[in-house]
Amino acid sequence: MNVLVLGSGGREHAMAWKIRQSPLADQVFVAPGNGGTSEVAINLNVDLTSLFSIKSILLNNEIDLLVVGPEDPLVNGLVNDLIADDDFKKLKIIGPERLGAQLEGSKEFSKRFMEKYKIPTAGAKVFDEVSFPDGLKYLDELEPPYVLKADGLAGGKGVIITEDVEEAKDALDEIINQNKFGDSGSKVLIEEFLTGIEVSFFILTDGKSYRLLPEAKDYKRIGENDEGLNTGGMGAISPVKFADRIFKEKVHERIIKPTIAGLKKEKIPYTGFLFFGLINVSGEPYIIEYNVRLGDPETQAILPRIKTDFLELLVNTAEGNLIDTDIEYERYSAATVVCVSEGYPETYETGVEIVEGKPNGVLTFHAGSKVDEGTLVTNGGRVLAVTGLGKNLGEAISKGIRAAEQVRYKGKYFRSDIGLDLTELGQ
Ligand code: AMP
Ligand code: GLY
Repeated sequence: MNVLVLGSGGREHAMAWKIRQSPLADQVFVAPGNGGTSEVAINLNVDLTSLFSIKSILLNNEIDLLVVGPEDPLVNGLVNDLIADDDFKKLKIIGPERLGAQLEGSKEFSKRFMEKYKIPTAGAKVFDEVSFPDGLKYLDELEPPYVLKADGLAGGKGVIITEDVEEAKDALDEIINQNKFGDSGSKVLIEEFLTGIEVSFFILTDGKSYRLLPEAKDYKRIGENDEGLNTGGMGAISPVKFADRIFKEKVHERIIKPTIAGLKKEKIPYTGFLFFGLINVSGEPYIIEYNVRLGDPETQAILPRIKTDFLELLVNTAEGNLIDTDIEYERYSAATVVCVSEGYPETYETGVEIVEGKPNGVLTFHAGSKVDEGTLVTNGGRVLAVTGLGKNLGEAISKGIRAAEQVRYKGKYFRSDIGLDLTELGQ
């Protein structure tokens, strides 16, 4: 079968790599892809904001299965448009329709959903232009730290956490009244701060059954010891040992099952990945966000840990047959280290030659790279990720860090402490 993965990040490179290994795969395409995806798949030009462009490549390449990597096309209703078109009656699709994608597309929608189905989460109130003065008063009543979230998609930048009430008030003003995030911030959630360690859980669901994928922890801050600005993700590890059998049981019972039941009850069809951003508060899981896709760079750490034929899993999901499908994991641990451009997540140079982009002994997944007249060059903030595999987390981390050291391009930076907080906890 012919498969198309939409997107251009490390997540999409990892998915194409995994799909390529399946005996069910004929041609594997990534659109638009990057300088690394062309090693495992065929890159296709596409304008991800144009339905016409996406439909053209689906038809021209006789695609049987479409996997939508990022959230924007899902939130914008790509799947609805394809389902409504007779040309795509037979197309299998991994990714929810617009309504299901609201779990990520609107933080107000997802918070109401969590509250309605009694899924443990941080308490929150929503404010808009009219209730802005009440928002200021509410901040005065709260204890720091203050958590503010723009309602809509904001490219990972829509969450502000601060100890300073004046800064929180300024942020509320900037988002609501000065349109810092455009329409995404016309409403803002002010949320209770939860103290604990984060962990990401992922499922594949056909709306009826689900299968749990390996869990991961990602490292969002640019600096070591989790200091500095938030990024798209500087690394990830899997498994996460504190997410033990008892913790997982709580996640299944209190978070995943009520979510699937809630979707059914609301008659919201859902086919695809669902990502639960959790905080472990003294052994109790709380959800802080849903994403309607896989995480980046978590995907680069979790997919190598899936033993089951990934394409078969995707097909069974799209066909609604997950109930008959088992998922097996590999026993080893994975540590993913992201190499970024100097200056990221602020301004950085692109077009820098990548002299060494494929170190030995690890998996390499490209993100911000492209081939320019035969030369591999940087093309983004997060350039590439290396994933070390090992019999335990310590071994996986050592391999990942050694490989990140070998990667060569001017201005390379990576965090050399990925996963160390957990190995110190004895993992
Ligand atoms: P997000 O962009 O939604 O992934 O949020 C960015 C980061 O903010 C998360 O990874 C958490 O570290 C943090 N965060 C979000 N919500 C809360 C909360 N209610 N309490 C504590 N930390 C939070
Ligand atoms: N790594 C976090 C995300 O993909 O949202």
